[in-house]
Amino acid sequence: MCGIVGAVAKRNVVSILVNGLLRLEYRGYDSAGLVVVRDGKLDRVRSNGRVAELELKSANTYGELGIAHTRWATHGVPSERNAHPHISRDLIAVVHNGIIENYETLRTGLTTQGYEFTSDTDTEVIAHLIHSHYAQGNLLAATQQALAQLVGAYAIGVVAADNPHQLIAARKGSPLLLGVGECEHFVASDMSALLQVTKNVVYLEEGDVVEVNLADYRIFDAQGKAAQRPVHVSELNNDSVELGEYQHYMQKEIHEQPQALANTLESVCNSQSLVPGIFGAEANNIFPKIENILILACGTSHHAGMVARYWLEELAGIQCTVEIASEYRYRTSVANPKTLVVTISQSGETADTLAALNHAKATGHAFTLAICNVPESAIIRQSKLRLLTRAGPEIGVASTKAFTTQLAALFLLTLVLAKTRGRLSAEKEQQFLHELRHLPSAVQKVLALEPQIAEMSKHFADKHHALFLGRGLHYPIALEGALKLKEISYIHAEAYPAGELKHGPLALVDKDMPVVSVAPNDALLEKLKSNLQEVRARGGELFVFADADTQIKEAEGIHILQMPEHAGFLSPILHTVPLQLLAYYVALQKGTDVDKPRNLAKSVTVE
Ligand code: F6R
Repeated sequence: MCGIVGAVAKRNVVSILVNGLLRLEYRGYDSAGLVVVRDGKLDRVRSNGRVAELELKSANTYGELGIAHTRWATHGVPSERNAHPHISRDLIAVVHNGIIENYETLRTGLTTQGYEFTSDTDTEVIAHLIHSHYAQGNLLAATQQALAQLVGAYAIGVVAADNPHQLIAARKGSPLLLGVGECEHFVASDMSALLQVTKNVVYLEEGDVVEVNLADYRIFDAQGKAAQRPVHVSELNNDSVELGEYQHYMQKEIHEQPQALANTLESVCNSQSLVPGIFGAEANNIFPKIENILILACGTSHHAGMVARYWLEELAGIQCTVEIASEYRYRTSVANPKTLVVTISQSGETADTLAALNHAKATGHAFTLAICNVPESAIIRQSKLRLLTRAGPEIGVASTKAFTTQLAALFLLTLVLAKTRGRLSAEKEQQFLHELRHLPSAVQKVLALEPQIAEMSKHFADKHHALFLGRGLHYPIALEGALKLKEISYIHAEAYPAGELKHGPLALVDKDMPVVSVAPNDALLEKLKSNLQEVRARGGELFVFADADTQIKEAEGIHILQMPEHAGFLSPILHTVPLQLLAYYVALQKGTDVDKPRNLAKSVTVE
């Protein structure tokens, strides 16, 4: 949420800033801006549109030190005056990601001191605060003093007009990393913004403040003490953040799923047996002690948790609760120290999930496990155990490959816990390992159905509502299908367990309500078929994603997408893919901005 880039170099940094913002635009795209320092002055360019517009506006701007920002509005509507950077008295410029909770009090105090506010943002107080401490010309000290007055979350970049080779950056509660070049340095919200200039990265830690100069940098920890942080070489390459042959990142990421799954499962599929160690060294001690599982996550990641509940209870025989992270933290719950708390997050920085994790720890849960796509993210660092999904950067706002890899990771967790609890025979273990090895090619087969799904999507172009049905462990897949459709096509979509239709939602069904059903060839198939008849009898048009051998036939008002053979416990992973494609093609029909749906952003770092 909001993306930051900063650079200090012996060359014009404007294109570095703009290219960086283009990579970070998924984090927010309400407005964008940059500032460079040149000849003792701040030269600021802002646009109330996308980064592409900023690029045009800043084509003739030059500066060797600068900071830039792409915004997802929290305080103040999207507008040029609210776009970052914010400037105090032509001297201090600041970009900020996060929320300053005490900004109103600070604003009142600063107004009394004579500071004039030109925006509605919380960020502007940071610029004025730093300015108020800058009398001695020490930007680092002024920033540290200002930060001490802030309550809330932030990642910031700061420059001063009279300080042509220095950039100060800091983080607390929002991600920020430092890129190390040859006599040039950079900061950014994530590594994808910096691959254009360096692969050497320092992950800043909570409370770190860094003074970045041309030749070197100095890091200070939350207590203000000089700190050493290791330099990592990023494994990402530029291809992983380029669109390549695809029209949208979402389409690219849907097609990357076979590889993403293969990467996530690599270490396991190359071995002959499953061991707790894949979740971290301490898993050997922790897993035998746990009595039940609590899964905390938001949105799509929450749906992954809902699928896992079916697996964990059936295969591992372990009781599992799944909670929406933002709700869990605000209710009084009873902690059991023998519960394994599992957080699931693509970004690893979702504020609600992070807060829920911390709440769980504060109430006495010591066993924590993160399933996450971003190494070094806050959720990973704050959990005892972890399994990284290796989906690669997910840039489309609608989560796709992160979801299916989360499912794969959760299936591994299920199998390892089943084994720990003596519920997985050697023969079954080999069978599941075989099925996991086969999973990428099974997903590839489903992707081959893309042309039929594109055709099917045409039926949705003029619709305003849709119902999604699933049963058992495919009910969360119906929820995920509905979420994908609503977030990128803006069609109102609801998902129900098919058996629940007659308890209310059937009243909605008529010829204008397309009903999408996930129809795996599992134990609930015959029940589901009856539910579909109920829909058809009321004139509802059915779109059924049916496994081979389900014997559901194409007929008037019944459209069938023929899926491959039933994949057993892994079926939810396969059934997700056509629903992602359906949402994608419906969005194309509707002409929406697929990768940047309105009002949304990736990495929701605010409550
Ligand atoms: C939907 C989507 C969101 C995220 C949710 C949690 O397509 O992407 O619902 O799943 O915001 O994000 P993470 O997984 O990063 O914690």
